[in-house]
Amino acid sequence: MAGKKNNTAIKNSPKHLLGIQNLSIIEAKEILEEAKEFIKLNRSDSKKLDILRGKTQINLFFEPSTRTQSSFDLAGKRLGADVMTMNMDNSALKKGETLIDTAMTLNAMHPDLIVIRHQDSGAPNLLSQKVNCAVINAGDGRREHPTQALLDALTIINRKGKIEGLKIAICGDILHSRVARSNIYLMNMLGAEVNVIAPKTLMPKSIDRMGVKPFTDMKKGLDGCDIVMMLRLQNERMQGSFLPSKREYYEFYGLTPEKLKFASKDALIMHPGPMNRGVEIDTKLADDINVSLVKEQVELGVAVRMACLKRYCK
Ligand code: CP
Repeated sequence: MAGKKNNTAIKNSPKHLLGIQNLSIIEAKEILEEAKEFIKLNRSDSKKLDILRGKTQINLFFEPSTRTQSSFDLAGKRLGADVMTMNMDNSALKKGETLIDTAMTLNAMHPDLIVIRHQDSGAPNLLSQKVNCAVINAGDGRREHPTQALLDALTIINRKGKIEGLKIAICGDILHSRVARSNIYLMNMLGAEVNVIAPKTLMPKSIDRMGVKPFTDMKKGLDGCDIVMMLRLQNERMQGSFLPSKREYYEFYGLTPEKLKFASKDALIMHPGPMNRGVEIDTKLADDINVSLVKEQVELGVAVRMACLKRYCK
């Protein structure tokens, strides 16, 4: 027992995945290469490995999620980890317990990795300072959603063979979007040219400092783009009025077959989900398998999360 305690004490500090901003280009490329192997595994009859056997993964989702939560759950199980997804509606948070007290309580159970989604920007960073295990950010406020950007990159590479030299448009609610921020960092890092398109009210003031070209006009912003990434209006983060109406928003910024013609001839469409059909995207376009990568994004999300769990769960 004493030896085990010592081992714990001398264990190296865990590495965390808190954002694309903290990731080097080498690390990002290594995760994407590893994930490619997991795509094959996930398409095979036997999807189970024991790479993480004996490891404990806790999923803490303080905000709703379908794709991210289920794919982290599945990813951990496919790698052989013991996965516990906390039901936050029934947790002691409802009785007033703080995030830090919750973290300290879970830390006492010796998890090897915690996946956290939280409404406050910076919550995963705070958690990582309080626990002994690795922390993966599954989306914090409007700051970052690193595994979403990594799965988006993998989806583009899978279809276009590369990211370097591509022209990528990110359209919609840039102001409130952690998906936009993580994708801007990653696509720039991997050598793409990034246009962001939004009404003035949904465009961050200092956006040009992020190495992107801002547009308020879809026709100009989509010109020659190889990838058109649409974003959901993040109504839950809007206080006050940002738009005249959803109908008007759709007219100017909703992606329709007509507006897609402004982009490159072989442009492909992406959306992180959940989609508001008829608000940011035409419903038929969203389901058109000739141009829409939405289902592939979900599929490859599992592979990317497996690669991240393998890398950070030590
Ligand atoms: N893209 C994304 O984060 O979706 P969920 O909110 O369903 O996890």
